[in-house]
Formats: sequence, C-alpha cells, structure tokens
Amino acid sequence: MQALDGIKILDFTHVQSGPTCTQLLAWFGADVIKVERPGVGDATRGQLRDIPKVDSLYFTMLNHNKRSITLNSKSEKGKKILTKLIAECDVMVENFAPGALDRMGFSWEKIQEINSRMIYASIKGFGPGPYEDCKVYENVAQCAGGAASTTGIFGGVPIVTGAQIGDSGTGLHLALGIVTALYHREKTGCGQRVTTAMQDGVLNLCRVKLRDQQRLDTGPLREYSQFSEGIEFGNATPRAGNDSGGGQPGRILKCKGWEQDPDAYTYFITQAAAWKNICDVIGKPEWKDDPDWATPETRLPKLNEMFGAIEAWTISKTKFEVMEICNPLNIPVGPILSMKELAEEPSLRATGTIVEVNHPQRGTYLSVGCPIKLSDSPVSVERSPLLGEHTEQILREVVGLDDDQITEARDAGAV
Ligand code: COA
Repeated sequence: MQALDGIKILDFTHVQSGPTCTQLLAWFGADVIKVERPGVGDATRGQLRDIPKVDSLYFTMLNHNKRSITLNSKSEKGKKILTKLIAECDVMVENFAPGALDRMGFSWEKIQEINSRMIYASIKGFGPGPYEDCKVYENVAQCAGGAASTTGIFGGVPIVTGAQIGDSGTGLHLALGIVTALYHREKTGCGQRVTTAMQDGVLNLCRVKLRDQQRLDTGPLREYSQFSEGIEFGNATPRAGNDSGGGQPGRILKCKGWEQDPDAYTYFITQAAAWKNICDVIGKPEWKDDPDWATPETRLPKLNEMFGAIEAWTISKTKFEVMEICNPLNIPVGPILSMKELAEEPSLRATGTIVEVNHPQRGTYLSVGCPIKLSDSPVSVERSPLLGEHTEQILREVVGLDDDQITEARDAGAV
C-alpha cells in the first residue's frame, strides 16, 4: 500500500509547475486523472520534440504515473462530466492563467457547492496585488522572486539558474499545501483552497538573500568576495558569484583537466572547523597558527589570496580526487557534475533517483525518479499516458457512464 492510496486527484495542470506537483502525488499512490483538451492536450506534448509526432521528453518526464482523459470542459456535456468528476475526486489542481476556471463556470464557490470535501489547489504567477492577472513562466518568476538579482557575477547582468525553482519549486510547495489540507480534512471533514504564487515560492527559496538585505543596514556583508576585494556595497543584496550562501566562505575552483573539460571544477568550503586540515592539505601548514590567517575574521579580507592558494592545490587533482582526499578530513567539497555524469552515476540508478522508463512510442528514456523516499511507500515510476489513453476507462469507472452515454459524449465532441 502506498501513502496516498485511495486519493483521487483531478489534474487540470499543464506545462511544468502544476504537473510537477501532481506527479509527486501520483508517485505517493494517488490516482491522478489528467484532464486535457481533446485533440490538443498539454502543450508540452508537442514542445521541444526530439522525435516527430511522439510525446516530448518535456511531457513524459513530468507526467509519470497519471491517467489521461480528454474533455472539453467548455462544452455543455463536458461541464456535466466535469461536475461529476469534481464530485468524485478529493483534490483538484490547476495552473491555468488567472481566471480561466472561473470563465469555464467553475469558481471556488461552485466547486464547494459540488463537493464540500474538495481541496482546490492552484498555482499562479503572482499572489493578490498589482500583477495578479499576469501569465507567468519560469524565468519571469525567477526574476520577480529575487533569484535573478542575486545570481550572477558582481557587475554583470542578472542570471537565471538552471534549477527550475519557479516551476518545479512552486509545484513542490503546492504538493505540501495539498497534503497538509488532506491531513486537515481528516480532522474536520472539510476541503479548502490552497494557493501558491510562483513569486512567493521563489522568494521563499531566496530567504537567505532577504536575510542579507537586512544585514546590509548594519554594515558590509563581510563573507562576500566583494568585501575582500574592497568594493563598496550598494543598497540591495548584490550578485555574489559563487560565494557560499552560509557564511563559511566557499568558491568554485579549477581542477585537473579544466582546460578541456568545462566541468572540471570543485566547490570548496573553508569551514572554520576544518581550517587546520585545509592548511595541511594545500601545503600551507604555517597558516594554521599564523595570527594573520588562523581565524575566520582575519581571513575574510584576503579571500582571493586564500582561494588562490587552495586552487593551486585543487588544480593538481581531479574533482573526484579532491573529494576523496577532503571528505575524510571533514572539509566540505563537491565536484561540479555534468548532466552526463549524473545520468551515468550508478548510485543514482540504484536509489531510483535516475530511472529508465519504457514508452510505447519512444522506447527507453531516462527520467528523474521520486526524490523523496518513504520507507513504507515505495515508488514505481510508470510511463506517462498517451493523450486520452484512459478516457473511456475514467468515464466508465469514475463518472459512471455506460457505453451509449460514452458514444454520445464522443459524438458531441465533449471528450
Ligand atoms: N477544455 C476546454 N478549454 C480548456 C481546457 C479544456 N480541457 N484546458 C484548457 N482550456 C482553456 C482554458 O480555459 C483557457 O481558456 P480561456 O483563455 O478562454 O479562459 C485556455 O485553454 C488557455 O489556458 P491558459 O492557462 O491561458 O494557457 P496559456 O498557454 O495561454 O498560458 C501559462 C500558459 C502557463 C502562461 C498560464 O497558464 C499561466 O500563467 N499559468 C499560471 C502560472 C504557471 O503555472 N506558470 C508556469 C507554467 S510552467
């Protein structure tokens, strides 16, 4: 038995943010019924296609373990079917542009009327306020949520990150909201509305940067490289390059082979407690007790010199050798791993974090499995559904239609 067995989710999500959320819930055992427009489906089915006429990796990697029903929820018959689905499901999730479901005639009030136990969960770009009606994609959220202004090299343009903190990050936030509301419903019997805004989700993930914004009021951010370089701080948290976010200075340093391999680098953190070991490893034992180097405070104004000395050592080792040498000495380091290296990493295959999935149209492909491991709710990653693959099955089992009614719905173009 899986943790969310018996929970039915009406999945009106599309693109990335919402599908990330419902995929997680499907992995935990919920029956996720993905509703898609007849003949069209989730737009990502056809985006960034690598094989003509075959569901894209974009779609397949975000919609595992779901069932797909096609339904024109703007047609009269479609609305009747949707009403029945709302009555039968526990959770409804959507990430349409603001107001789309209201325009279909399914406001929160209407949904509550149909099913008072329903948990209705939405992702929008912004919360209530001046931008609440805007359509939003990943990079807009990264920019509006504070990530871009604090990412990049000092003096350079703002940079977006490859981690999809706006889409997948907000999907994760929403999933937590949904299971919390399910827990609450156990006690009260009532559903509730769960909303997350991508701007809020990104800002939550940038919490430490708002911390630094307030620290600026009382002086420069001494652990930033900018401080050690004598560059004055402005009035907002600056871009901090590869500085460590946690107050223990860290940087990305070159390793052996960096001239040919763009990923031959290591992250190296000069954690205060490991300082003596660092000095021994890099061949600077004299720094251990030198009053100019022995304490974090004395090192802060000389980060370039310090990391220069460390890099003179890391550059003579591969990123994996750096890891092997430093880990037993409690020096926190991490290799820069490429997607290719991650895809080939046996330990990630063994834990199911990287999985091979078989798809009837595309054959075998790699995906990221469930990153959250529950000891009593094992996850088996199943392929994404073809468009409308389960329409009849769902109409029969969940909506309760018979053969004639299904034919009628098809003839009317409702499914
Ligand atoms: N039957 C009938 N109509 C359907 C339907 C169905 N099964 N599924 C979708 N539609 C309709 C919607 O009702 C909407 O119609 P309307 O404009 O008349 O109200 C229309 O399809 C398009 O939906 P919309 O959400 O506006 O899609 P879009 O492609 O124009 O915008 C986003 C895409 C992602 C920008 C937008 O949905 C959005 O801002 N979502 C919230 C934030 C978000 O999640 N962004 C990240 C996505 S990864």
